[in-house]
Amino acid sequence: MAKIKTKYVCQNCGYETAGYLGKCPECSSWGSFIEEIDSSSKKEAIQEVSEILPPMKLSEIEMNSEIRISTNISEFDRVLGGGIVQGSLVLIAGDPGIGKSTILLQTSGELCAQNKTVLYVSAEESASQVKLRAERLGVKSDNLYIYPQTNYELIKKNIESLKPDLVIVDSIQAIYTTQIQSSAGSVSQIRECCNLLMQLAKSENISVIVIGHVTKEGNIAGPKVLEHMVDTVIQFEGDKYKTYRILRSIKNRFGNTSEVGIFEMGAKGLSEVINPSEIFLKEYNQIQTPGSTIIVTSEGTRPLLVEIQALVGTTPYPAPRRVANGVDTGRVLQILAVLEKRIGLNLSKQDVYVNVIGGIDVNEPAADLGIALAIVTCVRDVVFDLQTAIVGELGLSGEIRAVNHIEKRINEAQKLGFKRIIIPEANDVQEKFEGIEIVKAKRIMEAITGSIKH
Ligand SMILES: Nc1ncnc2c1ncn2[C@@H]1O[C@H](COP(=O)(O)OP(=O)(O)O)[C@@H](O)[C@H]1O
Ligand SMILES: [Mg+2]
Ligand SMILES: [Zn+2]
Repeated sequence: MAKIKTKYVCQNCGYETAGYLGKCPECSSWGSFIEEIDSSSKKEAIQEVSEILPPMKLSEIEMNSEIRISTNISEFDRVLGGGIVQGSLVLIAGDPGIGKSTILLQTSGELCAQNKTVLYVSAEESASQVKLRAERLGVKSDNLYIYPQTNYELIKKNIESLKPDLVIVDSIQAIYTTQIQSSAGSVSQIRECCNLLMQLAKSENISVIVIGHVTKEGNIAGPKVLEHMVDTVIQFEGDKYKTYRILRSIKNRFGNTSEVGIFEMGAKGLSEVINPSEIFLKEYNQIQTPGSTIIVTSEGTRPLLVEIQALVGTTPYPAPRRVANGVDTGRVLQILAVLEKRIGLNLSKQDVYVNVIGGIDVNEPAADLGIALAIVTCVRDVVFDLQTAIVGELGLSGEIRAVNHIEKRINEAQKLGFKRIIIPEANDVQEKFEGIEIVKAKRIMEAITGSIKH
């Protein structure tokens, strides 16, 4: 009998070696290697792509603009770049319980209502569990096929005979192919199954949406390898203790990335939030305390008003604490250094907490000025002007740097009834805005004197 060849595969990034390693040289994670059966000889056969086309002159290529299927859920459509592209493979990733199965079952219902056929491969739950959820969500259709199956080959057979418009695989971690021998859920299996589904989507011209769970570290399990393969990656985020959920596109071959769609989770499933800034600001007008500011962040092409809170207090510890929620801690440290050096704010004996209200992550430098002013108002114990919103990146010398999409941000603040907005002087505003005063600031000190009323 031939000896079974094995290899060690990093379960985080897919790096392969012949022997066990404690630390992955590729992604630096520890203890992530698992022994898997090496079936690379078989794999070459699978890699052969059926379509053999000669190289073409650019001018000879015919433009066939992609066909998109609308999900009828406008927030989801926007994140997808205008609907599901026919023949594309979309990965939806998120924590367990965030609502991945829910939104895809709802999407299935919407598609079936347009007379499309959907095959829902339920690899984790039984058909009756899916039925129960469908009943709760009010999804019913004869075009919706539920298929509890984990074997890729059987799934493929059914896709080929049913020829649905959309296939949903819930989840990629739960299915396996007999073409390789690694166990279900291992990186090799996930990668292979995803690869096979990708080929099937292209050859049959069927759209496939694949669900992927996220690891403890917040990565898509089996993860980076999948992100490279698929056409579109959509992250499902949200605060587990709150009802809103955010869909964010982080890769899209057919559309804009970093678009977001905002939903609210309820007993009848996810409903679209048409005016998200209102939700994020709901409590702002009621509780006004020193240390809160409103920033206009830009998520993809959409501006969003969110509240930033800071709390500064004398530390009982030898080294003061710096805690940031929803913003990058490194960014907060940098802002503190700028405040200390440029306006002489001494925080060496103070704990500093910064929090973004509403459980959303704000990862753009345009939030800097809002964070800085939240800290300053807290230290000085003054209430920030209720009617003023803030945008601006803070440079190391205390200068305020220009931000993108300035007009959209101003427009959003105006729409929500803000009377003033502080923006970087370097930003050129062409459009005329009524009912909102635009205050330009060049340096941090100007922004402080211009915005805090004594
Ligand atoms: N009866 C219910 N009423 C309200 N919300 C529910 C109900 N059942 C489930 N949910 C919501 O649905 C979520 C689970 O959604 P699901 O789509 O199964 O998540 P995932 O597939 O991402 O693991 C729960 O966390 C809860 O918020
Ligand atoms: Mg699920
Ligand atoms: Zn690795």
